[in-house]
Amino acid sequence: MTATDSHPLDGIVPEIERAILDPIIADIETLKRERNAVVLAHNYMTPDIFFGVADLRGDSLQLARMAAETDAEVIVMAGVHFMAETAKILCPEKTVLIPDTRAGCSLAESITAADIEGLRAQHPGAPVCVYVNTSAAVKAAADITCTSSNAVDIVNSLGAEKVIFLPDQYLASWVDSQVDVEIVTWPGACEVHERFTGVQLNRYRTTHPGVQIIAHPECPPDVLAEADYVGSTSGMTKWVADRQPEQVVMVTECSMADNVAGSAAPNTEFIRPCNMCPHMKRITVQNIRTALEEMQYEVEVDPAIAARARAAVEAMLAVGPPAR
Ligand code: 13P
Ligand code: SF4
Repeated sequence: MTATDSHPLDGIVPEIERAILDPIIADIETLKRERNAVVLAHNYMTPDIFFGVADLRGDSLQLARMAAETDAEVIVMAGVHFMAETAKILCPEKTVLIPDTRAGCSLAESITAADIEGLRAQHPGAPVCVYVNTSAAVKAAADITCTSSNAVDIVNSLGAEKVIFLPDQYLASWVDSQVDVEIVTWPGACEVHERFTGVQLNRYRTTHPGVQIIAHPECPPDVLAEADYVGSTSGMTKWVADRQPEQVVMVTECSMADNVAGSAAPNTEFIRPCNMCPHMKRITVQNIRTALEEMQYEVEVDPAIAARARAAVEAMLAVGPPAR
């Protein structure tokens, strides 16, 4: 790179941090070429990862599609474990690495395959739709998966009067408000989004007149009732990019505002009552470099479970891109 070349972290990461980051990022670029690897990054990654080392970026649905389509032999998932597992389910022949195995998810922890069998017994004939924020074993016990960006379309696609929709009670309640289907759910919740409150958001309407409030559907109903828009992480990014609001509250994980400000809406003021996802924050540029150096930690899924889970994920992908 010459002195005049621009760098993806220019204006994004303070100059003082660049002295540490730049050599790590250069190592990652070399390792990616040597290993024929790509880094897939969720929208909640910190800007040094999101802008500095990611080859592909997106929400859970986009990451699943990108994993299925990439020609790379190695996928490094800069996200949480269920995202890496979904990539492995879709690409069993590829090596999928997660830089820190502790990067979990409170929703994925909230339900087991046995819980699903119990609900099937209580609601015979009702199809089971599970959020992608679940383990491979839970996906294998389901009929179809969904993400926050396509949940409504997926439920409608089933053509059923009653759908068992798991494990996020708040996403389920939001879907329930958008469809003409009986929804049976489970008391799971995202530990990050359930901490926001409607009262907290309503105060911004007074302190910041005209502010736009946009929220992830994992938030509780009183929060969603305050929102001008409800959507997935990529849905929120697009909403802000299309409208370029003067001020916006993004009711979701902290890094979203940094990443949207750095790419899609440089002139928008982000009011930040953000909550941090401790699992997403386990992924760093340092452990991405180590993952590629040591080829760790490889995600494995039992082939019989993977085959059934793949059918549920592919059923979702066959429904097509979200209508909104
Ligand atoms: P998205 O699919 O909207 O990116 O959400 C994933 C997630 O874990 C949000 O907490
Ligand atoms: Fe799971 Fe919530 Fe973290 Fe998303 S933000 S990975 S749903 S704990």
